[in-house]
Amino acid sequence: MDPAIIPKPRSLVTHTGSIPVRPILRPADAPVEAAAALRALEPAIGEENSVGLSLEFLRGQCDPESYRLVIGHDGVRLYAGDEPGFFYAAQTLRQLLFAAARAGSGLPLLEIEDSPRFSYRGFMFDSCRHFFGIDEVKRLVDLAAAHKLNVFHWHLTEDQGWRIESLLYPRLTELGSRRGETRGDGIPHGGFYSRDDVREVVAYAAERRIEVIPEFDLPGHVTAALAAYPQLGCTGGPYEVATRFGIWEDILCAGNDDVLEFLRGVLGEICELFPGRYVHIGGDEAPKARWRECPRCQARIRDENLAGEEDLQAWLMNRAAEIVESHGKTAIAWNDGISSDHLASGIVQQFWMERGEAPRAAREANGGRRTIVSDYYHYYLDYPYGMTSLAKTYGYDPVFEGLERPESILGVEAPLWTEYVADRESIDRQVFPRLTAMAETGWSGPHASAYADFRRRLSHFYPYLESMGASPEALGKVDPGPLAGRWQVARFWGRAVDRKMIATLWKMATGRH
Ligand code: ACM
Ligand code: ZN
Repeated sequence: MDPAIIPKPRSLVTHTGSIPVRPILRPADAPVEAAAALRALEPAIGEENSVGLSLEFLRGQCDPESYRLVIGHDGVRLYAGDEPGFFYAAQTLRQLLFAAARAGSGLPLLEIEDSPRFSYRGFMFDSCRHFFGIDEVKRLVDLAAAHKLNVFHWHLTEDQGWRIESLLYPRLTELGSRRGETRGDGIPHGGFYSRDDVREVVAYAAERRIEVIPEFDLPGHVTAALAAYPQLGCTGGPYEVATRFGIWEDILCAGNDDVLEFLRGVLGEICELFPGRYVHIGGDEAPKARWRECPRCQARIRDENLAGEEDLQAWLMNRAAEIVESHGKTAIAWNDGISSDHLASGIVQQFWMERGEAPRAAREANGGRRTIVSDYYHYYLDYPYGMTSLAKTYGYDPVFEGLERPESILGVEAPLWTEYVADRESIDRQVFPRLTAMAETGWSGPHASAYADFRRRLSHFYPYLESMGASPEALGKVDPGPLAGRWQVARFWGRAVDRKMIATLWKMATGRH
């Protein structure tokens, strides 16, 4: 049986025999590109001058994320072209060392050649519906790195709380980071990340080859910001940080030049704090009721020769994207924010939800728009396993229906929304092992016919996850039968009546999967 590595490597050849597991000898002349890999292996490195396992890092010419790992009688060799490749080789070696130590066996002689299918492999964490401190965020970053993911999408602004410090707009956190209660529980909830917290997380992630992508969700999901600065809404308020979940009609006023100034200021601060290539500007679930009634929004529509409110959203998203671009970065938006033909072509779409029978997302991607796939029906980690079983997540092919240009797909991302996730145990149960399944798809493509093999490898991966402090959902519960599944969905449905759930129940009722 092949060693149980997750994500499954592209090519793995085993030879008969093994070498004893010993502490690794610190390599004498590792290239600078191997620094992050060495740090990842540090716990396995032995004392100076001990009898240990020889480890060599060798520079080769290949894609930055690809690597070769050779275990021979004379030790371990890691080949890569750049830092990420060495880091991923180290992640694979960590798994092999852990498995051998646990089984009390040797390290199998083998040769692995490996490289990812997609260049974008992400996990999204909502720090707004429930706030978690940076220790928890860093733990999740660590776990993402162990899955060879390279993006941590940090959802930082919401109706229920603004979570990132701003020097230009201090009331965003002074007022906007706290809510009086959550769904009538009478318990105040709050918290935010200081600029130093953010820098710490960004540096921690960078050491693990992970880019942190901040999200400032606009023009909707901004009730907390409006509570702090009511003049940014169409009606002027007053507004309160939301204490319930859902979709709120008060959104940023697109006719108010102060809003553009606000976007320049806050997005500018965000761009300065996050050194990565992307900034997420949201765009999802923005009802147009206020804009239809607002004289300033209507004046903007006239002045800019726009066809209506959907065009006005595209206009505002384009302004936000220009700000992001002026800082040398690319904007990402949720695909339901693209209901106009006038959204700038450079904005990346994150496909989470189709609209109608001929998904606009497919048309956009076929027209060349770069796309991240987060189909809510397969990749949303907040849903119960009865709705989104492990088998369903694993079997999903991100080349979604109607897509004719698969090269438009940058990659995959699984979001964890935290409306009903308030502690670490719930995070882990929801995230693992479904994120593990998505990580394998993002790395080596879906192996739909090989689900049994994935489950076999997963049973070995569990102790490894647990050794890193994670508590994944019990393997016996991740593929519930129809009865247990329906019960879970009914319970979830009882709590979360929203647009997504209605669409989901419709799909389940009509058998459209
Ligand atoms: C989303 O789930 N509203 C992006
Ligand atoms: Zn307005």
